[in-house]
Amino acid sequence: MTIKRTPFQKILQTLNEAQQIPIDLLPLLPKGWKRVGRVGVLELKTPLLPWKREIGEAYLQHLPELKTMALKVGVTNTTVRQPALELLAGEEKTVTLHKELECKFWIDALKLTFSNGNHAERQRMVKLSKKKEQVIDMFACVGNLSIPIAVHNPTAQIIGIEINPYAHQFLEKNIQENQLTDRYQALLGDNRKITPTNWANRVIMGYFTIDKQQLTKALASLQQQQGGTIHAHGLTTTRHMHDWKKEITTLINTSFPHFKIIQTQKTIIKSVAPGVNHFVNDITITTTNETKA
Ligand SMILES: C[S@@+](CC[C@H](N)C(=O)[O-])C[C@H]1O[C@@H](n2cnc3c(N)ncnc32)[C@H](O)[C@@H]1O
Repeated sequence: MTIKRTPFQKILQTLNEAQQIPIDLLPLLPKGWKRVGRVGVLELKTPLLPWKREIGEAYLQHLPELKTMALKVGVTNTTVRQPALELLAGEEKTVTLHKELECKFWIDALKLTFSNGNHAERQRMVKLSKKKEQVIDMFACVGNLSIPIAVHNPTAQIIGIEINPYAHQFLEKNIQENQLTDRYQALLGDNRKITPTNWANRVIMGYFTIDKQQLTKALASLQQQQGGTIHAHGLTTTRHMHDWKKEITTLINTSFPHFKIIQTQKTIIKSVAPGVNHFVNDITITTTNETKA
């Protein structure tokens, strides 16, 4: 009986036989990798970096679903969230079609973010979505969190806002590709300026450094006679267990007295570094009986 080897076992054998990498470093090779469409992303420990190209080639050789292998070289930290990736091996064309949850996402995997670690959150958004709801995705990127809602809920209407023209271009393409043109509108610009008011039942804020102006816009974008739910993302550490309830409560008290928070829930989405988690607060808001806008 022949035992089927895993891709990782084949990669290990190829690199072992090539005798380029010191044998004692082979145990440092990553057993996992990320994938966006046909682009794979590896994280390599520092001692392996002198052989990064050979490693990239070996992984590509045994992962036929991939055409390009990239290396994570830093953290994603600009406003437009450009990932810090470097091309290691394979095709230079990094515009790719990623399929997930029956949705099609065209994306340039080297220049825009699409986190595999947010898969469960994409699923959760679909599950939470209600009939005929109106959703604003204030940090839409290529539709990462909101295209699945539109695909799985044919009664939902969505407005996605994106500041980066390159990401907005893919968002437009994805709306067409998933046949959502009648229900999903993509706006290009700063959500501090162009978020519609008094329209949404649900607002998605998939960004780590949300500011007060953006939280105010989110509250103003909710249907003022009904309220709705804001999904505010952020980073939390064991020392600083931040959540958005306090800031939103302050804004409600000062500028939206007709609103009150009726429920909050915090979900940890993924670990981004030791002791640092990406979380989302679901903040459900309704109107008080006294003054309605
Ligand atoms: C990290 S991506 C998140 C994508 C998606 N929401 C998710 O969680 O998977 C954040 C996106 O928000 C966009 N962005 C940042 N500041 C913005 C602003 N002020 N107005 C609109 N979009 C903004 C960035 O360009 C980027 O595409």
